[in-house]
Amino acid sequence: MIKGKHIVLGICGGIAAYKTASLVRLFVKAGAEVQVIMTPAAKEFITPVTMSALTGKPVVSEFFTANTGEWHSHVDLGLWADVMVIAPATASSIAKMANGVADNMLITSYLSSKAPVFIAPAMDLDMMAHPSTTRNIEMLRSYGNRIIDPAVGELASHLVGKGRMAEPDEIFNTINDYFSRREDLAGKKMLITAGPTYEKIDPVRFIGNYSTGKMGYAIADEAATRGADVTIVSGQVNIKPTSDNVKVIKVESAREMLAECQKLFPKSDIGIMCAAVADYTPTEYVNHKIKREKEEIPVIKLTKNPDIAASLGAQKKPGQLLMGFALETDNEDFNAIDKLKRKNLDYIVLNSLRDSGAGFGTDTNKISIFDVNGNKRCFPLKSKREVATDIIDTIISR
Ligand code: C5P
Repeated sequence: MIKGKHIVLGICGGIAAYKTASLVRLFVKAGAEVQVIMTPAAKEFITPVTMSALTGKPVVSEFFTANTGEWHSHVDLGLWADVMVIAPATASSIAKMANGVADNMLITSYLSSKAPVFIAPAMDLDMMAHPSTTRNIEMLRSYGNRIIDPAVGELASHLVGKGRMAEPDEIFNTINDYFSRREDLAGKKMLITAGPTYEKIDPVRFIGNYSTGKMGYAIADEAATRGADVTIVSGQVNIKPTSDNVKVIKVESAREMLAECQKLFPKSDIGIMCAAVADYTPTEYVNHKIKREKEEIPVIKLTKNPDIAASLGAQKKPGQLLMGFALETDNEDFNAIDKLKRKNLDYIVLNSLRDSGAGFGTDTNKISIFDVNGNKRCFPLKSKREVATDIIDTIISR
């Protein structure tokens, strides 16, 4: 519930700043405490007096109050916040947040904040479409910030296009949903596999794949913020969960991953199989570095790896839920449904490598989710964190 929550509202210098008065009213009426931080330019569009009258708190804009020398701690503000909302977010502030240019109180607080950040961009259509703005928004998404997309409509310039700040009630509903969803996985134990497996050939070589683990870790973070007790059994990746409530067990090979999953799955309510598990492993491990021979080219014999998802599917008990992933290049729907059945899954998430922005290494993904009855839900291209929200919402809906 939004009641009693601490909201830091960052207002930047765009014409849509006038709409934040209504947004503050909605937050305050719902029982939230709002602290407004304004950039210097924002004060040209709406006065701090309006905002402090509506919030009941002095607006913070400078690093200190000039006549008293009172210091405003951006660190304290960042820690006080349960959520930070930047609305309207101008092209300039978006660029500063993306690149850490901490030259005003708002950006400094943003960089210090441990709270989730929601950003509602607003600007003229050409600024919005400029590659630099697009890139900066993508960078913010990759930090886990959530973008409340601007609408298409008439802009202050009287041009019509994408760039209108989302309406105050839409921003309010997004934040309200976030707080109402927070505890909907409380008490649930979740097992997630993520990242690649490495299958050793000799002490210096392995068979692996390009998986970075980003999707699985995003799901783990989303589930943990919604109250689940999450364990990731992870292949070798260079990322960490952002949430403190996620336990990570690192493994290398498919067999090691299977062994950990078999220990954990019987105690889990939900299993999400996100790992890119190698299908084959070398038949034998050579315990010295294989040398380059003059004539002979070595042959590496392979044997099938266990299918972790299928083995958990086979031991699934009533009340447990198992979700798998299918990364396909052709016959996508057919292959996904076939895997769902063969592995006894409840859901399968399909990514197609034919969709740009989907698959390994990207910060975005485009998915469809199939259930056991063959129902398919398609989602647009989103950040992996937003995709994680859709995946968890689908599980909750059951
Ligand atoms: O059969 P395929 O590898 O395409 O199936 C993908 C799904 O099965 C993913 O959820 C993946 O994590 C899981 N899987 C597994 N163990 C394997 C192969 C795939 O858990 N050996």
